[in-house]
Amino acid sequence: MLRALESLDAMHLEGQRALVRVDFNCPIAEGHVTDATRIRAALKTITYLRDHGARVVLVSHLGRPKGKVNQDFSLAPVRDTLEHLLGTPVTFIRDALGEQTVAASRRLPRGGIALLENIRFNAGEELNDAAFAATLALHGDFFVNDAFGAAHRAHASTEGVAHLLKPAVAGFLMMREVHFLGETLAKPKRPFVTILGGAKISGKIDLLDALLPKVDTILVGGAMACTFFRAMGLETGTSLVEEDRVDLARELLDRAGKKLILPKGGIVAAELLGGVTCQVASRDQIPAGFGVYDIDPQTVEIFGAHIGRAKTVLWNGPMGVFETPPFHLGTMGIAQAMAAATERGCVTIVGGGDSAAAVAAAGLEDRMTHVSTGGGASLEFLEGRPLPGLVALHQDQP
Ligand code: 3PG
Repeated sequence: MLRALESLDAMHLEGQRALVRVDFNCPIAEGHVTDATRIRAALKTITYLRDHGARVVLVSHLGRPKGKVNQDFSLAPVRDTLEHLLGTPVTFIRDALGEQTVAASRRLPRGGIALLENIRFNAGEELNDAAFAATLALHGDFFVNDAFGAAHRAHASTEGVAHLLKPAVAGFLMMREVHFLGETLAKPKRPFVTILGGAKISGKIDLLDALLPKVDTILVGGAMACTFFRAMGLETGTSLVEEDRVDLARELLDRAGKKLILPKGGIVAAELLGGVTCQVASRDQIPAGFGVYDIDPQTVEIFGAHIGRAKTVLWNGPMGVFETPPFHLGTMGIAQAMAAATERGCVTIVGGGDSAAAVAAAGLEDRMTHVSTGGGASLEFLEGRPLPGLVALHQDQP
């Protein structure tokens, strides 16, 4: 069992310094955060701590600066967005190692909030260096991990520090992610339908293996469907096919039997280009010089009908190249079918990464039961792999 932040006695939060790992790895352009989803997702934990009189020291990474200071990866724009969302000032601490830094965190008033500069500016972070983790631990009286998106990394601020700073508890976002991606899917209401997409089978093999025994139906879209088409002996034109996975696709088709449902056809075009002329082709009539870049309307309808009957739906991976219209309609159709399913009481879970981006692009985030903030972390968690950041919190149990 994870220990939740909420389980801590409110008396023990008052005046204490909470070192809080968050995942503020947000897209930034020209010095501004362009998508604040991950910042918003951590607000509940931050405001809970603030409202209980804790002094909050936030730690995050941004991008992959490889252990060196690089202002292109500064969290300063994140601080600005956070201040805006919270409506209160946030102290920016530029150096996570120095003595003065610890002093700055100690100087925070009750309910005060500070953000450390990108923790990956320090080589010790990704090395999970014990001395670095110990220095980091000086910033808090207890540890809260709310960074589900980084929980698959065994780094100093996600794993190392959790062993040093006690109690080490899970924030609201972490608990929510574990609840929906873990407990809910372990005992799903049936029918349980999964939609899998994306470019490659190779990235989803472990997920397919983990889900096959649990689900009632797997709907497969995206370019990965083309590798299955090839395994069925169909012409796939210039579509992306993983030649070295065709045998595996054949084996998966045998193993999954009727559970696995492939598209009836696709949207094909001579090249992958925005606004290009495209046409519908059934899967046994894909023209030789054409590539498949989306699922066809008939498949959207069939997949939609499965989603319409489901009581639990998990979606991971887009149905086509949704960033490039006209190849967005299949993915958007699935997002809409899921939103409608949520309305009639189905539990709809979006497994993060590209599918989360697609749901955001469709403006339907609020109409899903849960949209995961994790990318790689969601995938690994759904595959059933232990996430070091979470394991470290479990070890905190008496
Ligand atoms: C993510 O964006 O998936 C997380 O923030 C983890 O980032 P990383 O892959 O650079 O560790």
